[in-house]
Amino acid sequence: MSTTFQLDTATSRANPTPQPTRRLTVPAIRARKAGGATAQPLVMLTSYTARQAQLLDAHCDMLLVGDSLGQVIYGLPSTLAVTLEMMIAHGAAVVRGSYHALVIVDMPFGSYEASTAQAFASASRIMAETGCAAVKLEGGAAMAETIAFLSSRGIPVMAHVGLTPQAVNVLGGYGARGRSEAEHDKIIADGKAVADAGAFAVVAEGVLEPIAVALTEALEVPVIGIGASARCDGQVLVTEDMLGMFERVPRFVKRYENLAEVIHQAAAAYAGDVRARAFPTPDQTYQPKV
Ligand code: KIV
Repeated sequence: MSTTFQLDTATSRANPTPQPTRRLTVPAIRARKAGGATAQPLVMLTSYTARQAQLLDAHCDMLLVGDSLGQVIYGLPSTLAVTLEMMIAHGAAVVRGSYHALVIVDMPFGSYEASTAQAFASASRIMAETGCAAVKLEGGAAMAETIAFLSSRGIPVMAHVGLTPQAVNVLGGYGARGRSEAEHDKIIADGKAVADAGAFAVVAEGVLEPIAVALTEALEVPVIGIGASARCDGQVLVTEDMLGMFERVPRFVKRYENLAEVIHQAAAAYAGDVRARAFPTPDQTYQPKV
């Protein structure tokens, strides 16, 4: 689908031409897995800005406003310092920039772990202030009560198991999970617990492929892989990783572009033109009307 956009400056909304179909809903995404199988894998990418959302929207089933924006946008060393306010500002921008994909916003570290009441207060702010359709939170069995609490009160939850970056200090790094039998069993048990609690989908990050496959076969709800397996019900990547904005990326990332190089070259050409007084030309300047 090829779509062009104009920005309505009064509302900051993208006005795509042609108008896309209605926005995908949580039940529609959930229903893509039927009888234990997903005929057409679900496509998810991260998005943090309105313009990026406009460009990705037509190609994706889901846009995730991931707390990875901490590193990608803000240059933070991890996701731990990301705030609810950051997630809300970027979540609202992505909702404004999209019409088709289901928008899911990450709950940042410290905004949901203390109690079900804290989780509801944070998630309801995210939903009300961004217009997103669902939230994502990290953690397995320990988060089951929270997922049940939110789901039964109008807040659809996508869960996230395996490598959970907010727990980096407990895990000791960002390496793949599930190498020991105990870890393998825990990831499967975590996936079952969050699905039983009402999660409409589960992200499985950085797990050995057999675990991803076993989880996908075991759960009724879609399992979205990242560093997992092509046999998951869908895939997600950090958009900037996939576009080649960074020199170093995890081995599970496939680069579909080299935008860092494109930007270097464009910036170098601009700098050369400015220094040579070759920009602006008459085409880019305003002259008095004669
Ligand atoms: O924050 C994020 O971008 C994520 C995805 C990598 C799944 O959680």
